[in-house]
Amino acid sequence: MKLDYDVKYGLEGVAVAISSISCVDGVKGELVYRGFKIEDLVENSNFEETAYLIWFGNLPNENELDFITSMLSKKRELPENIIYMMENFPKNAHPMEVLRSIVSILGMYSNNDNSTLEDAINLTAKIPTIIAYWYRIKNNLDLIHPRDDLKHSENFLYMLFGEIPEKSELFDKSLILHMEQGMNASTFAATVTASTLSDVYSIITTAIGTLKGPLHGGANERVLNMLDEIKTKEKVENYLNSLISRNKKIMGFGHRIYKTYDPRALILKKWLSNMNEKVKYFDIAVKVEEEVLKRFESKKIYPNVDFYSGILYNYFKIPKEFFTTIFAMARIVGWTAHAMEYCKNNRIFRPRTIYNGPKNLDYKKVKEVERNG
Ligand code: CMC
Repeated sequence: MKLDYDVKYGLEGVAVAISSISCVDGVKGELVYRGFKIEDLVENSNFEETAYLIWFGNLPNENELDFITSMLSKKRELPENIIYMMENFPKNAHPMEVLRSIVSILGMYSNNDNSTLEDAINLTAKIPTIIAYWYRIKNNLDLIHPRDDLKHSENFLYMLFGEIPEKSELFDKSLILHMEQGMNASTFAATVTASTLSDVYSIITTAIGTLKGPLHGGANERVLNMLDEIKTKEKVENYLNSLISRNKKIMGFGHRIYKTYDPRALILKKWLSNMNEKVKYFDIAVKVEEEVLKRFESKKIYPNVDFYSGILYNYFKIPKEFFTTIFAMARIVGWTAHAMEYCKNNRIFRPRTIYNGPKNLDYKKVKEVERNG
């Protein structure tokens, strides 16, 4: 059938907004937030400062940084009723399911029916607490309540483990790497919800549900599953042969925009290779990368951010099923920035489908409906 319209499955190449938040150059392998190269930000900045940059469009001065740091640190605690609910959730619930549900419930505790920066900051402050509380509840450990004298990521690690591990600054920098990435699937989902003028809790619930999928943020957990299955460097080739012969995708590889090395993966790989001690999984991962690059040279499939991030989180003793929640903990900054930016020139998203079914069927009562076979 000849179509009057072009259907762009996956909206590849379609621009849906003009944005000054980030620039993703998939040919050069560059990522820029508000004009600043990701390499400079991870070198010099921290979570609070980069969040301010992404939300407000410029780097903060000292007062502004104090303001955002104090806003984020004061709003960490969850309502008691929510903690009670979490204690009664099934212990096998996936952390992303818990996060998605609690963010949605938090909407009932907000007075705002629309989307504000205050709500965005409130949720950004609370997401680490939801994740850490669930980790403690799931493992039958006493809760560790947030402290307002610690930085965002230090406080998260403290709530998980009761102490701040060495090299915690690398964890903080890894959040910067995940904060923003243009109109990716979860940001698009968030923006669609925002375009209906819905509230920030609905926007972030939508985004978390989208990030959870294995083709998006859920890939980081699957990468560790793969590395666990491979077990040793020597088994990499056979493992990949088996995946490829079954037409299975290799988790942590490929990207819609990057047709070269994802700069975030490059940074993570550099950190891991510069560690003084042997980092679990790293040697297997490097071998997987080598083999995938060889086999997929013509398709330009390179490691993406999810390939090496889990190895770093594992280094910090974070269980793999929590990996995608950490992605969400960072990406909420980009989600809310895009939602607010889009709404300045809002138009509701309403694309179309091309109908290819029949139009003139005769209605039949239930008793008259016949099925063949
Ligand atoms: N392993 C094997 N083949 C791949 C892979 C992969 N990981 N990624 C892409 N390809 C192949 C794909 O089969 C297709 O081949 P052909 O043209 O012969 O049919 C070609 O490369 C183009 O791939 P595509 O799936 O059409 O590309 P896309 O832009 O629609 O999808 C993607 C991008 C990220 C969903 C995809 O690369 C993928 O599924 N990767 C694995 C999951 C993953 O690592 N996701 C994380 C993405 S980045 C960070 C994030 O968002 O969380």
